[in-house]
Amino acid sequence: MKLLHIDSSISGGNSVSRQLTQAIVTQWRQAEPALEVSYRDLAADAPAHLSAAVLSAGGTPPQERSAEQHAELARGEPLLAELLAADVLVIGAPMYNFSIPSQLKAWLDRVMVAGRTFKYTENGPVGLVNGKQAIIVSTRGSVYAAGSPAQLMDHQESYLKTALGFIGITDITVVRAEGVSMKGKRAQAIGAAQAQIRRLLRAAA
Ligand SMILES: Cc1cc2nc3c(=O)[nH]c(=O)nc-3n(C[C@H](O)[C@H](O)[C@H](O)COP(=O)(O)O)c2cc1C
Repeated sequence: MKLLHIDSSISGGNSVSRQLTQAIVTQWRQAEPALEVSYRDLAADAPAHLSAAVLSAGGTPPQERSAEQHAELARGEPLLAELLAADVLVIGAPMYNFSIPSQLKAWLDRVMVAGRTFKYTENGPVGLVNGKQAIIVSTRGSVYAAGSPAQLMDHQESYLKTALGFIGITDITVVRAEGVSMKGKRAQAIGAAQAQIRRLLRAAA
């Protein structure tokens, strides 16, 4: 079993999502000592934004690609290899300005590649990354859960689920700590997420 652990919070030791993704990986390892973990810290090492070279490279036969096009495509290869090798993804995804951190968006831009992780068919696009499980660790300062007044302002969980689903990852669990910036709510929100993680891993054992 291979687990890809991804963090994207810029808050280092104060990050709630980092604390929770680490709890998942630690408990999973305890339950399954043979678990192979690869780690990608997108805040420490952010993927470069896409460029015109990467866009044009897709439609250019490999032998005709420029050095710049080769270099651009090569930037995504380690990220694609990690994703394709993994059985399970644990993704720390804080809400930043109603969406995900731009570092995590840059990662998605590098791994959502036609012909590699999805393909176009007569019936529309089809995801190629099948048989994987994803656990999204969602953290946010306010409350956006279903039924809350701010539900429609969530472009974080909804976006990430859409993007992962587009490439074929549909077995998705959200571990959520929300309201962490609201007075007196932080510890309670983290405690609830930690309890959710324990239940999740007990059920998977
Ligand atoms: C740049 C930035 C933007 C944020 N935008 C939002 C937001 O739109 N809505 C919200 O509820 N919280 C927002 N927050 C609060 C974070 O979602 C919250 O602090 C969460 O714990 C971040 O995850 P982390 O602790 O893993 O970094 C923002 C925080 C930062 C640093």
